[in-house]
Amino acid sequence: MQKIIILPARGECAGDRRMSMIKIQKLIHDYIKRDDEGNAAGTVRAIDGVDLEVKPGQFIAVLGHNGSGKSTLAKHLNALLFPTEGTVWVDGMDTKDGANLWEIRREAGMVFQNPDNQIIAQVVEEDVGFGPENIGVPTEEIWKRVEESLKAVGMLEHRKKSPNRLSGGQKQRVSIAGVIAMEPKCIILDEPTAMLDPNGRKEVIKAAMKLNREKGITVILITHYMEEAIDADLIFVMDKGEIAMQGTPREIFSQVKRMKELQLDVPQVTLLAYELRKAGLHLPASILTKEELVDALLGSKTEEGKEAEEGKEPKSAGTAGPDKETVKETDKEEEEAGNGDQG
Ligand SMILES: Nc1ncnc2c1ncn2[C@@H]1O[C@H](COP(=O)(O)OP(=O)(O)OP(=O)(O)O)[C@@H](O)[C@H]1O
Ligand SMILES: [Mg+2]
Repeated sequence: MQKIIILPARGECAGDRRMSMIKIQKLIHDYIKRDDEGNAAGTVRAIDGVDLEVKPGQFIAVLGHNGSGKSTLAKHLNALLFPTEGTVWVDGMDTKDGANLWEIRREAGMVFQNPDNQIIAQVVEEDVGFGPENIGVPTEEIWKRVEESLKAVGMLEHRKKSPNRLSGGQKQRVSIAGVIAMEPKCIILDEPTAMLDPNGRKEVIKAAMKLNREKGITVILITHYMEEAIDADLIFVMDKGEIAMQGTPREIFSQVKRMKELQLDVPQVTLLAYELRKAGLHLPASILTKEELVDALLGSKTEEGKEAEEGKEPKSAGTAGPDKETVKETDKEEEEAGNGDQG
């Protein structure tokens, strides 16, 4: 008897999808514009042909200026929106398939900007237990999950408090605990720190990072704060509904000119290093932290000192003014880096 071998379709198969936490193919999202009377008056294309993949356990940052489509993309990952065209798979499940809806929402939890809109109960621990209770988790198991989730975000000692008595950062950590209590594989945070002070911002990012590193939960963090993206495994930069750039923080933030074109900043220390390079200092193109900048500056100084001792002309300009060659080199590197952009 002749054997028939069925080959998977090119570029896509069920196995592939299951190996990805998120897989998006050719996603388009159009919103319906409405006039003052609520009648449909055309469409707005918020996502315009996005392809992307997130592997289980990755920490992803999504950047992009206002209106670039970040929140729309996030809502597709939680099946709050459905594709106009294209497909979104969450842990192998197609979001268009209604039968997957509740499992997708449990596996991919969302945290939004305003903690006050997300906390409903009068007591912290009740709020965290609300989700599991809603899906019929047995009481004993609920309390176990509440305790573990609050512990994971460093809020266990506040379990009996009223959320009203917490700071913004603490409230946001309670929101995250509420999501973790559902035992998700992935958490999508849409500007969770936008309404917080610098301390609150640090607390929330630290909690998200810890969940990722210690529990292996995939994290997708949408943010306007470049510093929050430095430790991500991968950054996606959105522009006009498209993925304009993707790469590691070092790859993305070394492209200062390209980021400026997309109306985005780079971390302050990266910008300072960029300006110093333009002024002629011999520094690497991709400095992300204060420590790296200090090391690089000390390194270039030390080299200079050694060269001076040996009676050579120092290579880097240091305080002696710009070194034309270094500036030229900077521009060239950035042009090259710019060519590596996606989209
Ligand atoms: N409900 C809606 N109806 C119509 N248009 C919408 C709706 N929500 C968003 N848009 C439009 O879709 C585009 C993308 O919006 P989205 O909220 O996804 O951007 P964003 O990157 O999250 O912006 P921000 O940084 O301000 O949060 C914008 O042009 C926006 O005006
Ligand atoms: Mg948004």
